[in-house]
Amino acid sequence: MSDAVAAEGQDAVSRSFEPVRLSDYRPPDHLIDTIDLVFHLEPTATRVMARMAVRRNPAGTAPADAPLVLDGDADSLTLTSIRLDGEPLDENRYVTDDSSLTVQDVPETFVLDIETRIDPQANTELSGLYRSGGIYCTQCEAQGFRRITYYPDRPDVLAVFTVTLMGDRSSCPLLLSNGNPVDRGDAGPDRHWATWHDPHPKPAYLFALVAGDLATLTDTYTTRSGRAVTLNIHVLPRDADKSAFALEALKKSMKWDEDRFGLEYDLDVYSIVAVPDFNMGAMENKGLNVFNTKYVLARPDTATDSDYHGVESVIAHEYFHNWTGNRVTLRDWFQLSLKEGLTVWRDQEFSSDTGSRAVERIKAVRRLRSVQFPEDAGPTAHPIRPDSYIEINNFYTPTVYEKGAEVVRMLHTLIGDDAFTRGLKLYLERHDNGAATVEDWLAAMQEVSGADLSHFKLWYEQAGTPRIGVEESHDAANRQLTLTITQETAPTPGQPDKRPLHIPFSIGLLDPSGRPLPVTIDGDAANAERETAVVSLTRARQTVVLNDVPENAAVSLLRGFSAPVNLAPRGRERLLFLMAHDPDTFSRWDAGQDLMSGILIDHAATIRDGGTADLDDRVIEAVERIVSDETLDPALVAEMLVLPSETDLAQHIRPIPVEAIHAARTGARSRIAARLRDRLVSRYQALGGPSADANLDAAQMARRALKNTILALLNADTTDATGRDLAAAQAENATTMTDSIAALIALNETDGPQRDRHQAEFLDRWRDEALVVDKWFSLQAMRLSPATVEAVSALRGHDLYARTNPNRVRSLIGVFAAANPVAFHRQDGAGHRLLAEEIKAINRANPQLAAALTKPLTRWQHHDATRAESMKSALRDISAIPDLSRNVFELVKRGLDDADANGDARPPA
Ligand code: TRP
Ligand code: ZN
Repeated sequence: MSDAVAAEGQDAVSRSFEPVRLSDYRPPDHLIDTIDLVFHLEPTATRVMARMAVRRNPAGTAPADAPLVLDGDADSLTLTSIRLDGEPLDENRYVTDDSSLTVQDVPETFVLDIETRIDPQANTELSGLYRSGGIYCTQCEAQGFRRITYYPDRPDVLAVFTVTLMGDRSSCPLLLSNGNPVDRGDAGPDRHWATWHDPHPKPAYLFALVAGDLATLTDTYTTRSGRAVTLNIHVLPRDADKSAFALEALKKSMKWDEDRFGLEYDLDVYSIVAVPDFNMGAMENKGLNVFNTKYVLARPDTATDSDYHGVESVIAHEYFHNWTGNRVTLRDWFQLSLKEGLTVWRDQEFSSDTGSRAVERIKAVRRLRSVQFPEDAGPTAHPIRPDSYIEINNFYTPTVYEKGAEVVRMLHTLIGDDAFTRGLKLYLERHDNGAATVEDWLAAMQEVSGADLSHFKLWYEQAGTPRIGVEESHDAANRQLTLTITQETAPTPGQPDKRPLHIPFSIGLLDPSGRPLPVTIDGDAANAERETAVVSLTRARQTVVLNDVPENAAVSLLRGFSAPVNLAPRGRERLLFLMAHDPDTFSRWDAGQDLMSGILIDHAATIRDGGTADLDDRVIEAVERIVSDETLDPALVAEMLVLPSETDLAQHIRPIPVEAIHAARTGARSRIAARLRDRLVSRYQALGGPSADANLDAAQMARRALKNTILALLNADTTDATGRDLAAAQAENATTMTDSIAALIALNETDGPQRDRHQAEFLDRWRDEALVVDKWFSLQAMRLSPATVEAVSALRGHDLYARTNPNRVRSLIGVFAAANPVAFHRQDGAGHRLLAEEIKAINRANPQLAAALTKPLTRWQHHDATRAESMKSALRDISAIPDLSRNVFELVKRGLDDADANGDARPPA
């Protein structure tokens, strides 16, 4: 920590971290054409020599005598030498402060040599150059390069990098950086070096190096134009038997991007390195991705089917960034969704094209609703292109990623696949090797399609989830159905007045017997006789008339979730009907969710008011029909059997009756289990029962998904031993991690010896597999009981808990705060205090992780007074610590600000 930060030891609320604003963007004063880096790798004192060719930016706005200003983090850098055109710089020509180095009187073009010393071993922030599992690795997005050397660390400065690494031959046999290998050789008896060159100009955030002793799995891939690419997956030697699947996923991704978008890889090498300590999922550094082990390692006995899916989609995501993010990068960080939203959309399309489109859509929508909608409804709400931030790392959010992907999807829906594909191509060609903005993206899409996207652009600027209301009126004489559709977006911090958005709204129609009817929109030739019509909503209130509609037909709305909006609850009869008959499987699932959500909210209100609630027979029968439907993909049936989560339900009832929601959901599950036990057991057995094979094909995965959903459901009825015995048998016989962890999850809410015994055996067996140990910690954190607070608190002292490892912290503390409302929101505030303690303990060591953990505490607005007060008091407690990081500061500030009045994170005057 620098003295400057320590000296600021005042109360955080008066501390000032200035926001950065999109409206203040200025082009860089200086450009860097090339940078040559030499690293002398030593654990605690690595020397970094940087030689950059600097040139005044002809497009810059600064006066001709403007100084050169480079970013550099004084906390991490020791400047040991600086030379300009070979001459050592006089002390009065330059000055450094906390975050920069300024050089006065610089010529038009010159060569700057800078030498810094850094300490990778002491780098616990996992940003810049650090060590993980004994490996040297880097993480530079968003602003980690300034912790390595002084440099214009902004995405619109693109340079050609040449990198030489020197390290111990024994501890670092492998020396990697971006691009293609150039040369290598000896440097004394125990040292060696390697040089890499990346021909593609790139911003500093895409720089990477890796050095260490790693086990490599290699293959080649020949692109469709004939380039032979060497593919490497590098993992710690102990993980060598878990990298094969990642390699297959990479080849599959490369092929898909060629087939779907004609995009090929552009270097001779593509390497993926897996490290155990990582702040996020993975990083798309050019030609040298660095991954969290969680998204690379997979073996049937250690990784679940859902882990496999995670590996495949993150490998795909980072690979797809090679075009959307790397070849065309961002002008500034406000444009983050330009690469992230687009790349999430691309990885979702990949998963849909290569797997089940309906199941993928359901998973994406479930995630959007449970993670992004709450963000949009709370004090950290922001548009997918924010207009100010204090710490950019706080903006790698579900809004920028997941809602960003929904915005791309809407654009695709509006202009059609053909125009979209041409628009993407135009955008990539036009901005190749450059840095782009949302305006550039929309201009390309507008040009190819001829569509007017000016109204649509508001999605990039306006935060909040629109609420859509629909009223129907049928005119039997004219056979017309009139829909009166309203949209409204509630205020979000800094945006009190919302405008109507351009919303693609999809509509289907069913006759009373459940058969699909063609949809014809009156006055809209493009929407005649469609199975699903898409209309553009653009006003706060508008009417849509459907022609040729018989009496008692049923409309199916928002098919495929054509826009990220909240549809007002529909009538139960309609929902039961759609759930049984909608030809669109997504809509069937959605109708079921909507139905159950309405019922469970009613139950929660009844229970809150002291009453009792039960499911009526028609609902039980509807569930039974789903369980018994052998014509449906079992993976879909599994999705249909999962009730909306407690967090989902909490979004619809104020103040949130935490315990009553829990009681309502658990009660309903228990009731379904009790009423349908025989049917559930027989389907469970038919799907393979407690013993199962380890086959990883899609059909087997779907089968396991349903089987294990049923097992969990059976165990919701704790008055009966059937589920428990099946789960115990499954725990003993499982040959896959999917079945093994599912058995433990099923047992997790039960009491009795089985649960404890199987959990203990599990930990005993897997204590050397970090990713499996994470699962064990999550099981403890997920136990839905108020006493979990004490259990989690005690587990912080477990010999396998490690505050330095983000995966471990997330598996215990993150899961506790995000997925266990009855414990985290315990009335006495113990859950909130526990989280605050951990945040304070992690704040300095890893501000990014600490800030991510802070988010749940900012959402106190919808809780009762006692809970709201305890959450605010936890935030105040955090804000009082002397060395509060910028990251945590921004969240605490947003959390404590009056949500409506002062949401743009302006520091108080
Ligand atoms: N760009 C990365 C991705 O989406 C994620 C990322 C951003 C990241 N910042 C990071 C990963 C910091 C690790 C650490 O794939
Ligand atoms: Zn990404």
